[in-house]
Amino acid sequence: MMNRFENKIALVTGSSQGIGEACALRLAKEGADIILNGRKFDERGEELIAEIEKMGRRVKFLAADVSKTKDVIKLIDDAVAVFGSLDILVNNAGLEKKADFWEVTEEDYDIVMDTNLKGIFFGIQAFVKYCKREKRAGTIINMSSVHEEIVFPHFSAYCASKGAMKMLTRNLATELAPLNIRINNVAPGAVTTPINQDLLNNKEQLEKLLDNIPMRRMGKVEDVAAVVAFLASDEAGYVTGSTYFVDGGLTYHYEEQ
Ligand code: NAI
Repeated sequence: MMNRFENKIALVTGSSQGIGEACALRLAKEGADIILNGRKFDERGEELIAEIEKMGRRVKFLAADVSKTKDVIKLIDDAVAVFGSLDILVNNAGLEKKADFWEVTEEDYDIVMDTNLKGIFFGIQAFVKYCKREKRAGTIINMSSVHEEIVFPHFSAYCASKGAMKMLTRNLATELAPLNIRINNVAPGAVTTPINQDLLNNKEQLEKLLDNIPMRRMGKVEDVAAVVAFLASDEAGYVTGSTYFVDGGLTYHYEEQ
């Protein structure tokens, strides 16, 4: 394992399970001190702290609901205060709600957009203000989805949020480059995490999905974390405004007739 993040501090939102957890562990393995986040501190948070401390890294869990603008701004400020600085922001927390378009409630629309877009927008803004004030470089990775690019019927708000994230990243890459801040998206395909539990329980649906994935397997959280680590590192020093798909070929697959 490389040591690309020695003396770096990373905040990963929504990191007490799934992809976020894997990102936090991967960055810690490569030397970063970690700020974990979730809505509530739970048992898994405690276990993760122990695991990261065992690697010899500093780690702190900050409970915050990133769908709330005030809370996400406070999360960034608190994260900076914990170890005195912040280098890497991974906006991972996200959720989806399934419904036919004509059944989507305002409440479900708001929770999806506030978590997947608004919270990220203002979290990035708080991080950029900090970098600007302290004249520090920074790197931002947003957990997007293949659905910033391809359709997902019955998940219209989710697609709207990830599609907007695509353009947010393209736009900010231009605006933030002079500040020495890079921003990129990682777009997972179908990854084995609790978000996909229904799908994983449904053999028939799972088979259909695998037919659309040229590599014929679900992604692992570690597959995603490896790309996040690359984008967060100086090795990606000339990469900004991009989306890296981690999808086994799903997005642009073509079924030969
Ligand atoms: P997950 O549901 O396993 O984990 C999401 C984490 O975010 C949970 O710990 C949850 O508590 C936290 N979270 C949700 N809302 C929050 C809030 N308001 N404040 C703080 N924490 C909050 O999901 P998974 O699969 O690990 O997804 C992570 C990201 O990856 C999401 O943005 C999702 O859209 C994206 N993604 C996942 C895919 C998959 O197949 N698993 C595919 C494409 C994208």
